[in-house]
Amino acid sequence: MKITLFRDERVLAKALAKDIAAALREKPDIVLGLPTGRTPVRLYHELGTLHAHHEADFSRATTFNLDEFLGIPPEHPGSYRTFMERHLFSRVNLAPERINVLNGGAANPDEECRRYEAAIEGAGGIDLQLLGIGTNGHIGFNEPGRELAARTHRVTLRASTRRSNAALFGGDPASVPREALSMGMSTILHARRIVLIATGKSKARCIGRMVEGPITTRMPASFLQVHANVELMLDDAAAGELAVGS
Ligand code: GLP
Repeated sequence: MKITLFRDERVLAKALAKDIAAALREKPDIVLGLPTGRTPVRLYHELGTLHAHHEADFSRATTFNLDEFLGIPPEHPGSYRTFMERHLFSRVNLAPERINVLNGGAANPDEECRRYEAAIEGAGGIDLQLLGIGTNGHIGFNEPGRELAARTHRVTLRASTRRSNAALFGGDPASVPREALSMGMSTILHARRIVLIATGKSKARCIGRMVEGPITTRMPASFLQVHANVELMLDDAAAGELAVGS
């Protein structure tokens, strides 16, 4: 894995936004995989700024979000769809018909997962998958466990994951849906290029285990070790438990 360290999250976000703008110039019809969470917020705002300065054109790009809560409609204030509208979609010129987010309000969630997989394949697969990481090592909503699912699927969220998403639901973990839909490990690992971003001390332990530990379903992000084109973009705090960061 290529590891790049940054002084702080602002510098990291600026560098990655420039990288994405260059990728858009090289391949205007690029297919992007997108994460939610606090970590990418600054990146999305930087992309909005680059777009405002005519340095990032999303008009032919396609996006697929990693995951969504189950049992709430897309327009729910806590949905990842709403999060993405606020932080990215409303700030850049993506064509609405090329924005893809799993529908957490779908009447048939299993059918929705199959539809999503087919849509990713129909778009030619994901060129650049951006990822965050949960403190327990999850990517998307692929939680640690005895086994991991390959394709887009329905998941039960861990209590810790519901707590860390509580801010979207008025700060109340009990209001966070118990289930979600998520791209699977194979969906993610089929992306041609993967960039995982992590900032802050709370991510240091899982980053250390992900890079230097064994590949295990107990640390879903460790599977990125088998991918040939993965870059980790970290601030110094998140790299604190890596041999390279010390
Ligand atoms: C959520 C998302 C993940 C994300 C993680 C980390 O659980 N489903 O895709 O990577 O949060 O979030 P944060 O960036 O807020 O630490």
